[in-house]
Amino acid sequence: MERELALELVRVTEKAALESAPWIGRGDKNSADEAATSAMRAMFDSVSIKGTVVIGEGEMDEAPMLYIGEKLGNQQGLEVDVAVDPLEGTTLVSSGLNNALSVIAIAKKGNLLHAPDMYMEKLAVGPALAGKLNVLDPVEVTLAKAAEVLQKQVSELTVMLLERERHQTLIQTLRKLGVRIKLLSDGDVAGAIAPAMSETDIDIYLGSGGAPEGVLAAAALKCLGGEFQGRLLPENPAQYDRCVAMGLADPNKVLSMEDLVGDDDVIFAATGVTNSEFLGGVKYLPNQQAETHSVVMRAQTRTIRFIKSIHYLPIKHQKTSA
Ligand code: FBP
Repeated sequence: MERELALELVRVTEKAALESAPWIGRGDKNSADEAATSAMRAMFDSVSIKGTVVIGEGEMDEAPMLYIGEKLGNQQGLEVDVAVDPLEGTTLVSSGLNNALSVIAIAKKGNLLHAPDMYMEKLAVGPALAGKLNVLDPVEVTLAKAAEVLQKQVSELTVMLLERERHQTLIQTLRKLGVRIKLLSDGDVAGAIAPAMSETDIDIYLGSGGAPEGVLAAAALKCLGGEFQGRLLPENPAQYDRCVAMGLADPNKVLSMEDLVGDDDVIFAATGVTNSEFLGGVKYLPNQQAETHSVVMRAQTRTIRFIKSIHYLPIKHQKTSA
């Protein structure tokens, strides 16, 4: 893929973040999501790709924008798979909490897993632990291995995970082992990327979250030299059958980086809507200006660019709920 696409994708995530930002803390997650989605949809028209959404806002019969299977881009470039989450962390935005991002990953056609919308067990790490851990290991083993590789005490490790009822046993075990824990209320794309970002103190991301979010995080980790392992968690026969129908012959198998993101020709872009461990959120400046913070990376070169942009907002950004 052309390297110029990287900057085009950042323009798309920036626009989606800017459009959802007026909804921060206003208790209306649907409007925040709609604003991000329609901005992202419109911006894609100018991107030089023949894109197809493989991870998106839903199925065609639900009639959302950016539905799975939707064609994107000006249809003049390469055929690519597109994974989008225009607003990852809708509740975070409606409550004004950290970790909301606007996110895109693209790869050559056939190289992003078409993950069904269900839970996935996840393990994500940065470069130092890549290839060293196994999502199927008991957590005690995982932490002991990580401590040895990183030359730390287990009590000096920091694990991040979603604060959920389903994680209570895991959290209790982690507390017994004495590791430091950072709990997220939402936003596990930012959470799973955090261990690979040198500016954070997170060593490992664990626990279950959305499978589509897992593919997006895996694309980022491919660019960062980290690792993501996932295992789909179908909760009933219908979900199991859906996995099979989507081409996953064994829905219980551990999904490696190669399963999730086929080759190195992948680009990942994200813009902070609210602050996260590694990106600032949208900040309004005087004189109708706003500042955004984005990261864009290509796995082929493993170049990681942090982009701070100042946008002029000629139109009002005051919106009111209906
Ligand atoms: P939304 O942006 O769709 O609200 O997703 C937020 C999120 O926290 C994801 O980051 C995560 O993968 C998923 O929800 C976890 O699902 P659940 O809230 O059901 O545990």
